[in-house]
Amino acid sequence: MLITDLVDVLGAAHVLTDPDITVSYETDWTGAFQGRAAAVVRPETTEQVAAVLRICGRHSMPVVPQGGNTGLVGGSVPAGVAAGAVVLSLRRLTSIEPVDAAAGLVTAGAGVTLADVQAHVRAAGYGIGVDFAARDSATVGGIAASNAGGERVLRHGMTRGQVAGLEVVLADGAVVRRLSGLPKDNVGYDLPSLFVGSEGTLGIITRVQLRLVGLPAARTTALLAMADLPAAVDLVALLRATVASLDAVELVFGGGVDLVCAHQGRLAPFPGRSFPPDTPYLLMECVGSTDPTGDLAAAVETATGVLDAVVATTATDRERLWTYREGHTAAVNAVGVPLKLDVAVPLARMSAFVDDLRGLVRAMAPSARLHLWGHLAEANLHVNVTGLDRDDARGREGLTEAILARAAADGGSIGAEHGVGRAKMAWVGLSRSPAELAVIAAMKHALDPAGLLNPGVLVPPYGHGKP
Ligand code: FAD
Ligand code: MLT
Ligand code: ZN
Repeated sequence: MLITDLVDVLGAAHVLTDPDITVSYETDWTGAFQGRAAAVVRPETTEQVAAVLRICGRHSMPVVPQGGNTGLVGGSVPAGVAAGAVVLSLRRLTSIEPVDAAAGLVTAGAGVTLADVQAHVRAAGYGIGVDFAARDSATVGGIAASNAGGERVLRHGMTRGQVAGLEVVLADGAVVRRLSGLPKDNVGYDLPSLFVGSEGTLGIITRVQLRLVGLPAARTTALLAMADLPAAVDLVALLRATVASLDAVELVFGGGVDLVCAHQGRLAPFPGRSFPPDTPYLLMECVGSTDPTGDLAAAVETATGVLDAVVATTATDRERLWTYREGHTAAVNAVGVPLKLDVAVPLARMSAFVDDLRGLVRAMAPSARLHLWGHLAEANLHVNVTGLDRDDARGREGLTEAILARAAADGGSIGAEHGVGRAKMAWVGLSRSPAELAVIAAMKHALDPAGLLNPGVLVPPYGHGKP
């Protein structure tokens, strides 16, 4: 019996089958994806993870890995897995090794949250080059598995650039460990990189080695209301060219900020002024060893189309400005479960893309509401639509298709940072060629021949035992 075998290895306390308890592991953060788990298992060590995979392999039981369950594409829950699935929660893998200052690295268990690893390295005078609003729940294993982006990509790149090594358990229970920490180590394929962004389909990440980044002594944050999106895009180019201390440029709109203010009971950011809902706001941050406020102000003064600005140099004021940006996901979800898309289009085409998008949603779903925000420096736009009929699957698919096809036609990506998961499966072909998809399928077949690791995510399902 599957459950008996799992209990033998983990103990009854860590094999959960009571629906009242498993429900939170079976539903994603947005509420859009739900499934039923045969059990939720909570191993504490790499060896226990390996044992779970061997047992599930013997029983031909699919496995859905889960970290903080903050993913936004339905990949962390067993939605639509017809054969049933064991949800493998990695949250008890919480060991953190001491900071290795000489190598500039820290190694943490997959279940350590981003906030905890940030606090751990901050105590030694360092930072982590990845950050975003779900930091208190998202785990380093989940962040690596989804190659998360976030708010610091401008300076540090995606998570892939921050992962120096990994420990991974393969479908057959074998453990692959590449944690040498050597910056130069060209012996064959870069295996850690293979698993970054694999969304739980190639192996289970049990330990993550992350690079340390410096903690800036000074930081300045500003929120600017801009006349229009072309002016905002021009300002990004100006800042990139002239402000070396630039660390983040994020995009929100007046209507989104109003929504966050209403959701959180906050005052609007620009005292005594309000702007129409389609007004773009730029949240920008500069960091340095000395106060970067002057550099930022000098650049902004030469920009055109700046309607208003607020600047924050204290931690409290900075946090307040970031809340207008980071509060979007929860504020939109409070309106209703959104159709959630995450595209990138070349920055030079962003303004035309947004104009077309607004027209497209007005035409295809006149009573729906479009919410836009994103990471402008990386040309990454989050497209959320609320007010759609949840039972009208074809309508939602039609709108998704139209938006993603429009992004792809511009040379964009249908999944900029959230990944493919279950949500974008049908549209992967818009962003990857048949030759690329064949390589992806070959890698999946090689590492998971029975197709038990997160079936239905990223790679089309191919049944169990039939590669
Ligand atoms: P989960 O949600 O549990 O899992 C994510 C995927 O990884 C799933 O496919 C799962 O099967 C797999 N997985 C999880 N752990 C492992 C493991 N140990 N081994 C193998 N596979 C595993 N993302 C961004 O890129 N940028 C953002 O700015 C951003 N902001 C966010 C803000 C909010 C408020 C929220 C709710 C989410 C945000 N996200 C953002 C989504 C982001 O992808 C996740 O927050 C994070 O990367 C996932 O970590 P997690 O531990 O919650 O993983
Ligand atoms: C963000 O940048 O706010 C996130 O990626 C989350 C989201 O898109 O909801
Ligand atoms: Zn984002």
